[in-house]
Amino acid sequence: MTFEIRKLTASFGAEVLGIDLTEEIRPEVLAEIKTLWAEHQLLLFRGQSLEEKDAVNFSGHLGDLEIHVRHEYLSPDNPEILYVSNMKKDGKAIGILSDTEVGWHYDQIYLPRPAVGSLLYAVMLPANGGQTSFADMSAAYESLSDDIKATLKGRKATQSYEAFNNQYSVPTNSDQKKRTPDIEQPIIRTHPISGRKALYICPGMTTEIVGLPEDESRALLDHLFDWSVKPEFVYTHNWAHGDAVLWDNAATMHRREPFDGNEDRLMKRTTILPPPELAVPV
Ligand SMILES: [Fe+2]
Repeated sequence: MTFEIRKLTASFGAEVLGIDLTEEIRPEVLAEIKTLWAEHQLLLFRGQSLEEKDAVNFSGHLGDLEIHVRHEYLSPDNPEILYVSNMKKDGKAIGILSDTEVGWHYDQIYLPRPAVGSLLYAVMLPANGGQTSFADMSAAYESLSDDIKATLKGRKATQSYEAFNNQYSVPTNSDQKKRTPDIEQPIIRTHPISGRKALYICPGMTTEIVGLPEDESRALLDHLFDWSVKPEFVYTHNWAHGDAVLWDNAATMHRREPFDGNEDRLMKRTTILPPPELAVPV
């Protein structure tokens, strides 16, 4: 199996051409994909025809898979797969996040050992809307002034799944709430594989910088959020059927546009954990 790479933006993201993710991928190709994933932070595989077992199999080669805390939205057959959808069955939502805007966030930044990647596969799409944008938080960090970098060095920020749900999703149940309390994470995260630094905060889940007065914390976060989504750091993906996007969840955040709720959208996600010895963000 030979493949090619085409960059999606000057900053980050690459399309991988010539790989069928339903096939067993040779170890040396898999090793190359892992390297490219960390290097480009987002890999796009177009024209895939993935069964759930294929998505589980491919992403399982990249790391252990997380069983998402929102059990009500997991695939009935493959619990490693989370449905992101506005569709209903017997009056009940089959997936998370409905049809509304979903603000900038890192998947699972609120967990002590957050995922390092996600693979999202487009099964059903609306005619318009539902695009997903990604922000290169390594480039955003590297371009900050030395003063701001010095202010952020060694600091932590509070991450809140509840804050995200209040804005963009539905509340967790009491058991899920217990499993996802607010936590503090380093603001500058060193990538567990590449060693590159990135801003590890996001408007959807980060509520404050620990140890700063509230107004200073708010002003600095707002500045960093505006900075991070400057056009040169952002790639917006217009989904097509069969697209599978693998992103780096330690160095990119993402958001989704709303779409017409009268149309069905179904995306299937696997969530990839880092190796246990690299699991805690530093
Ligand atoms: Fe997400």
